[in-house]
Amino acid sequence: MATKFLAFVNGKGGVGKTTSVFHVAGVLSKRGERVLVIDMDKQRNSTQSFVLENKPSYTIYDLMIPYRLSNNVLNEMRKSGVSFEGAVTKTLFKHHGNASPRYYGVDIICGDIRMDDQRELALVKSDEFANCIRGGSCEYDWVIVDMPPSNKEVNRITFAFVDHAVIPLTTDDTDSISGYGDIVKEVDAARSANPTLSVLGVYCSRYSPSSLSDYVRGEVEKFSTFIPVVIPRLAVIPEARALNRPLSFYHKGEALEAFESLVDEITRRIS
Ligand SMILES: Nc1ncnc2c1ncn2[C@@H]1O[C@H](COP(=O)(O)OP(=O)(O)O)[C@@H](O)[C@H]1O
Ligand SMILES: [Mg+2]
Repeated sequence: MATKFLAFVNGKGGVGKTTSVFHVAGVLSKRGERVLVIDMDKQRNSTQSFVLENKPSYTIYDLMIPYRLSNNVLNEMRKSGVSFEGAVTKTLFKHHGNASPRYYGVDIICGDIRMDDQRELALVKSDEFANCIRGGSCEYDWVIVDMPPSNKEVNRITFAFVDHAVIPLTTDDTDSISGYGDIVKEVDAARSANPTLSVLGVYCSRYSPSSLSDYVRGEVEKFSTFIPVVIPRLAVIPEARALNRPLSFYHKGEALEAFESLVDEITRRIS
């Protein structure tokens, strides 16, 4: 099956992008899928969520450098030594007790603090970089991208190589209702460079009942791309990530079931 490329996107921080990437990757790997996570956020929260088998030679930022405008990519790659393989590392999860950490099928390209250098990123030829990522990823079933809150150049570069944008929203305030429209517009605009890109769906990512939350949830349900899955606000969700253990390898229960339903729905919409 062809590799599926999706990005968790929302211009707002703190809505559950990184949390979703981590647990969705865990559910997929538990099902035997080969997953590559790409951390596009300079805060590197995804990178920090995982136990890395080794420190990779290159980050996502290093990998982009040869693709700057006016550069000869091959010359630049030779000069810098950068390669896709050199940017990928395996991730491990810890068991309870003293057992050594185990590989479970998720690899990562790590984030980099320089990913907010808009001037430098603006030079990256996104179509050529897309070929690098898509070509390098052919061994994976899924490539899942963790996005920063709001970064014009990172959006431009990422939207050139992913096919699907998945939008987590929180229901704690009404901002998410207008925020959704902004993301859809941005994805629409990016389609001129990548016609295969689309919004796969929007879902409530950290829900606990209140009259405001229920109102926002009702509004979100009216969006045409609404995914009928609600991720509850539960302590076990951040707890598992803090312990570097995706829920699928940590705790059976309501939280895991919600992420499994999210993966089911994403898979159904893609295939
Ligand atoms: N379903 C959830 N239940 C409880 N806490 C959550 C849930 N989803 C996310 N969080 C917490 O909310 C905060 C923001 O989530 P995060 O995934 O880092 O957002 P983003 O990547 O969009 O900035 C983090 O502290 C995270 O642990
Ligand atoms: Mg994040």
